[in-house]
Amino acid sequence: MTARLPLNTTSPELDNAIIDPVLWADEHAIHDQLRWLRANDPLRFVKPEGFDPFWCVTKYEHIKEIERNKSIFINDPRPTLGPKGIQEMVQSLTGRKHLVRSLVQMDEPDHMQYRMLTQGWFMGANLRKLQGKVDELAVKYIDRLADMGGECDFVKDIAMWFPLRVIMSILGVPEEDEGLMLKLTQELFGSTDPDNQRSFAPEDFFQVVHDFEAYFDKLTSARRANPTEDVASLIANAEVNGEPLPPLDANGYYIIIATAGHDTTSASTAGGLLALLENPAEMQKLRADPEGVMPTAIDEMIRWVTPVRHFMRTATQDYELGGKTIKAGESAILWYPSANRDEDIFTDAFQFKVDRTDAKQLAFGFGAHVCLGQHLARMEMSSLYRELLRRVDTIELAGEPQYVQSTFVGGLKSLPIRYTLK
Ligand code: HEM
Repeated sequence: MTARLPLNTTSPELDNAIIDPVLWADEHAIHDQLRWLRANDPLRFVKPEGFDPFWCVTKYEHIKEIERNKSIFINDPRPTLGPKGIQEMVQSLTGRKHLVRSLVQMDEPDHMQYRMLTQGWFMGANLRKLQGKVDELAVKYIDRLADMGGECDFVKDIAMWFPLRVIMSILGVPEEDEGLMLKLTQELFGSTDPDNQRSFAPEDFFQVVHDFEAYFDKLTSARRANPTEDVASLIANAEVNGEPLPPLDANGYYIIIATAGHDTTSASTAGGLLALLENPAEMQKLRADPEGVMPTAIDEMIRWVTPVRHFMRTATQDYELGGKTIKAGESAILWYPSANRDEDIFTDAFQFKVDRTDAKQLAFGFGAHVCLGQHLARMEMSSLYRELLRRVDTIELAGEPQYVQSTFVGGLKSLPIRYTLK
């Protein structure tokens, strides 16, 4: 059960509340709690029941400082929040150290070698080549609004599918397998949400990964036999230290791209629309000058939503931060949504402003692991919004928005809208 918040520092319930997925599905309550922590206990050592303890980092500059010091704060062995004993359980049930070994589980020297294999794909010249295809898909998905005749669920009918198709076409997964990819991603990221999870059992969660792997093993064989121009061909035929990627690493690579590449962008797209609907003057500013305002508007939507709620780091040596000592071996959780509402960084941090230029939002992280797909995400969202604003005449909320219960990747799972087209 979630207590109404904010809880104060003397309350041990706070340690449990801050990692409660139900709280994270209540935008106001979670932000009240994070605001309280920033003001009163910005580096708090928490001991939630059923979890190994860790530092809760809620200030923008502290998160950046941790991420900047990548040799002191590493991703292994605890890149994200998992219940106590999860690593032992992975070892005993799967016989391996990592359930998934992707870029986010890696540190140097492996991390950079693996990252460089695909980084070029998600940068400048290559992305520009994709612009036409992304614009074409944006038109296709906004056409759906016309097909649905005036009312739809913007998350379930549009926002979920557009980034999914973009990333799957880059990866090389055919359209008929997209439903499977979406289901597996939701089961992986939404394992704490009753609507998305397979079940509460860890065995079922591990099975989700196995299902991904079974799919990607076949993709590897196909692309080794017949390489094409997609990212799957690149990963299947890549070498590190003169050897092909072991199956665990190749599958981890596909999984991170296939999952991180759409849920995050869908959540930002949908949450951005809700923010525009709730702030008509901001919608008006964007409509008055879409080309001029789009770049800042998209970053403001991403700041506002911050769909990746956390990553974690573990200290390799004692480190002084904000008057506290993080000891060697202790972990710190980086709450990105809190950084992005930090009142010391953003003027009127709790106001949504499409022309905001005061500070750089931190939703893509920072440093060595900074999001590989950040430019693609911005490009997709700009493309979809350009098309949406061009075609839509009126648009309003038509029901209660609902949020995913997740402390990891989350955002809206339902956004009913009513609209007329031009
Ligand atoms: C609005 C959309 C997105 C948000 C908010 C987001 C956020 C993040 C964050 C917070 C991280 C971890 C950064 C850190 O540890 O400092 C990350 C990493 C990553 N993201 Fe994204 N992401 C988004 C879209 C995408 C897309 C479209 C892709 C497609 C390729 C992608 C692929 C990745 C990958 C591969 C990593 C791991 C990078 C590494 O560890 O080196 N993301 N993302």
